[in-house]
Amino acid sequence: MIQEFMTRDHRECDALYAPLEEAISKGEWDRALELFVPFKRGMLRHFAMEEEVLFPAMEEFVGGGEGPIYVMKMEHNQIRSIINSLGEAIEAKDQQKALGYGETFMIMTQQHNMKEEQILYPMAEQLPLDQNGIVEKMEGVEP
Ligand SMILES: [Fe+2]
Ligand SMILES: [Fe+2]
Repeated sequence: MIQEFMTRDHRECDALYAPLEEAISKGEWDRALELFVPFKRGMLRHFAMEEEVLFPAMEEFVGGGEGPIYVMKMEHNQIRSIINSLGEAIEAKDQQKALGYGETFMIMTQQHNMKEEQILYPMAEQLPLDQNGIVEKMEGVEP
């Protein structure tokens, strides 16, 4: 349930990024600026669902500390910072920088999502959590 819901949201975030990258490649800056808004909102919302709902629920059982959840939060911070740099590069119409940040974003996010889909979400499904309740709470998270 959690695995399926969150994996689907990863794909939805990917789908928000793809047209943005295309607009940057074509130098369509007005379109890129427009597409950047829902892309950033989708990413920040996904991170908030994890940081405000899923991770705290898991931490009740696996503890905080420097385990895999800590690593995921650090990676969120890195990815958020790259998203901001990408936004600045788009505003500056700097294609080289925007493509570079875009590629870094893509690589980091794919690796991050893979770790969640292969380790974190399966772990969440094995814990005695209220899966339905957690998904419902995550659906209510605002970006
Ligand atoms: Fe994450
Ligand atoms: Fe995620």
